[in-house]
Amino acid sequence: MPWSQWSTRTRLVAVVLLIDVMAAAISCGVVVFNARNAVRVETRASLATVENLVADTIRLSNTAAPETVLQTLDLRFRALRHVRVTVLDVEGHHVGRDEPGRKASREAPEWFSDMILPPIERHSLPIRVGGRVLGTAQIMTQPMDEIEEIWGYARALSLTTFAINAAMLVALFLALGKILAPLNRLGEALTQLEHHDYTARLHPPGTPELAVIAERFNKVAEALAQTRSANANLNQKLLTAQDDERRRTALELHDDFGPCLFALEANAASIARIAAGARDVDRSKLAARAAEIGTIVGQVQGVNRALLNRLRPHGLGQAPLPTCLDLLLRGFGERHPGTTFIGRFDNLARGYNDLVDLTIFRCVQESATNAVRHGGAKRVEATANDRDGTVTVEIRDDGTGIPAGHRIGLGLSGMRERVEALQGTFTLDNNGPGAIVRIAIPIPPERSRETEDLSPAQSV
Ligand SMILES: Nc1ncnc2c1ncn2[C@@H]1O[C@H](COP(=O)(O)OP(=O)(O)OP(=O)(O)O)[C@@H](O)[C@H]1O
Ligand SMILES: [Mg+2]
Repeated sequence: MPWSQWSTRTRLVAVVLLIDVMAAAISCGVVVFNARNAVRVETRASLATVENLVADTIRLSNTAAPETVLQTLDLRFRALRHVRVTVLDVEGHHVGRDEPGRKASREAPEWFSDMILPPIERHSLPIRVGGRVLGTAQIMTQPMDEIEEIWGYARALSLTTFAINAAMLVALFLALGKILAPLNRLGEALTQLEHHDYTARLHPPGTPELAVIAERFNKVAEALAQTRSANANLNQKLLTAQDDERRRTALELHDDFGPCLFALEANAASIARIAAGARDVDRSKLAARAAEIGTIVGQVQGVNRALLNRLRPHGLGQAPLPTCLDLLLRGFGERHPGTTFIGRFDNLARGYNDLVDLTIFRCVQESATNAVRHGGAKRVEATANDRDGTVTVEIRDDGTGIPAGHRIGLGLSGMRERVEALQGTFTLDNNGPGAIVRIAIPIPPERSRETEDLSPAQSV
């Protein structure tokens, strides 16, 4: 399995294991290097000492009987460490017996001895008794004893280190499992969010760093859940508003167009009857029917214009926004002659974007409607400003003001939702006599500049 697919736990354990192996290799190298030097120095020192000892012993044996000298010397030199002395007679034969079992007791493996073993050194001393050469004492370095000792230490040390490291790795593996478990839970919870299950929550784990992550996660999940429920609410309202709008349109079509169409039908039938009459055509009757048809068509046009204007304010997007707002207030003035409507929109750009323009238009329209309808206002004043990248609009009236505990109808909630959808703010307050509606909509800088650049010549 490639490294990228390993879990964090396996990776961390693998890294520690690798460090362990490297540390073991370096320690082995140091042990071998030191052991080589130590063995060489030790065996050389022993060789020098033993050489003197053998020379002295041969000298002291001068008085002994020549036939027993070689056996005596051989026995004396047996129990030496690091050095082996072999007594040979004049013909080069070994005097005495080889020590049995010395080799058999070795434990250090050959590869270990081969790494440490220094070159074997040999010295020969003649054995002279009474001026006669009886044989030779061959002195040879014997580092195996020292190597055996070092092997013993090295093996004990390695086994202890291995046991400690194995225990440490197992402990690390278990600890990592416990520490990283919250991350697995976090992954599962994120998957829940991905599948739109916003009830996912994390229990704060023991470690402070992960506890912070869990806390943030819970807050994000809660915020998402709230946004989702607000969204569902908004969708619901949207559907209701669409339904209301359709119902109103259907009603208007029925109530306004229905009678007009019926009247047109009646007039057409009357004209047909006059034309089919046996007597001469009564021109005055025909003129009266034509005049009636003309009046009804005028009514239909008026209703049609009003209906279209309600569905989509005409001029918006074609005429400059200040002009559309002025026209809107003028229309209010015509419909409500007892109220003065004043608009100050000179500071506005020609237009922003469809959504912003429509939002400003609808807010002024709804606020003016409320002022007349609920406040009984005699004066309604709307002002707009475009400053520091924000368009602010204020609509104040001198009516009764907002009654305590007033309901929130489609008008107020619609204005707020439109403005907040553009990251703006909406407030409704009482203002001395009457009420005041304030809206502020941020305009991205490049967008407002682009629209302001449009020369007045382009205005309709
Ligand atoms: N300018 C105002 N002066 C006095 N009262 C107001 C004013 N504007 C709003 N209100 C109060 O707030 C309430 C809610 O207004 P809102 O526009 O949301 O609903 P509505 O006008 O009653 O119905 P619609 O959904 O048709 O607009 C009103 O019924 C009214 O009591
Ligand atoms: Mg209203």
